[in-house]
Amino acid sequence: MTDYGAIRNKYLEGGKESTLAHVEEVANTAEWLGRIHGLDVEKLRLAAMLHDVSAVISPDEMYRIATERGMVIDPAEEKYRFLLHQRISKIMAREEFGVTDEDVLSAIECHTTLKKGASVYDKAVFLADKISWDRGGVPPYYNELKTRAEKSLDDACLYFIRYQFDNGLLLMPHTWLTEAYEELKGMGDTKFSFRKATAEDCLALSELKKTVWNSTYQGIYPQERLDGYDVKKNEEIFRGIVANPEIELYVAEDAGEIVGFMTVGKPYKLYEEYDQEVGLLYIRKDYQRKGIGRRFMDIAKAEVEAKGFDRFILSVNAQNAGAIAFYTAMGGEIVLDDGGQKRIMHKIAK
Ligand SMILES: [Fe+2]
Ligand SMILES: [Fe+2]
Repeated sequence: MTDYGAIRNKYLEGGKESTLAHVEEVANTAEWLGRIHGLDVEKLRLAAMLHDVSAVISPDEMYRIATERGMVIDPAEEKYRFLLHQRISKIMAREEFGVTDEDVLSAIECHTTLKKGASVYDKAVFLADKISWDRGGVPPYYNELKTRAEKSLDDACLYFIRYQFDNGLLLMPHTWLTEAYEELKGMGDTKFSFRKATAEDCLALSELKKTVWNSTYQGIYPQERLDGYDVKKNEEIFRGIVANPEIELYVAEDAGEIVGFMTVGKPYKLYEEYDQEVGLLYIRKDYQRKGIGRRFMDIAKAEVEAKGFDRFILSVNAQNAGAIAFYTAMGGEIVLDDGGQKRIMHKIAK
């Protein structure tokens, strides 16, 4: 169990009351973002509470620690030693507070500069830190950043970094920040957002399922089966899922249009022996390979973990090689059932 009392004391004993007030503010903001985006809010709270813990030591001391440990020092850190505080906070989180969760440690480590390949936790803590401004007044980017962060973490990160570059706020950009910026730009400024579905989405979901079915199972399922897809009937099935308290239905949107969806929760009767199941996961073909599936898997893991389970099953059509490769790359292992049907079991690392 996390000892938040010990963390608070660390700041207080170091004479850092204002930093403590700031990290508590960041924790609330991170939790708010986590709820919107379906993330594990405990991880976010812990990362936020520890992100500036190295404030109790001076930048010169941080520099000494970094060199003693043989850490590779970025030219920007060489010049502005304070920039090392994110990496030193990570070391303190691990060594003084026993944090082992890699999502938490990583989010602490890059909260100022972000980094290439940043996770949703990295992005949420990075944004929460910027939204919870600690230098008095309201920063000029505040409203825009907050609105964007509610819709898409990627878009908000891109907006903030671009803002820093465009307004000459970076005397010497850290390599991690430059790399994160390039990567986010390369994502094509897409504004995917993720939220839980409502009853109003059900017709769009049914139509999307039909579209994905046709593109994925052309030549795999008999044509009569594809032609026999009943939009109305499937809309009703989606309504049933939305109304079911044991299953969560998430949608991915691009500029207000639903382009993917996923269900996670109590398994359908075929898979009762498993704790939890990702039942449906559909992404429109032109939106595949853009990070949506990865986000859905993060959301599924957070949901399953929040319910106290540590694994979930996902069944994949044995002929869908691309999907099998993707889910196993996401950490799943293949389980074959009696009929030779492939299922991918995801175990959540504790
Ligand atoms: Fe910081
Ligand atoms: Fe901070």
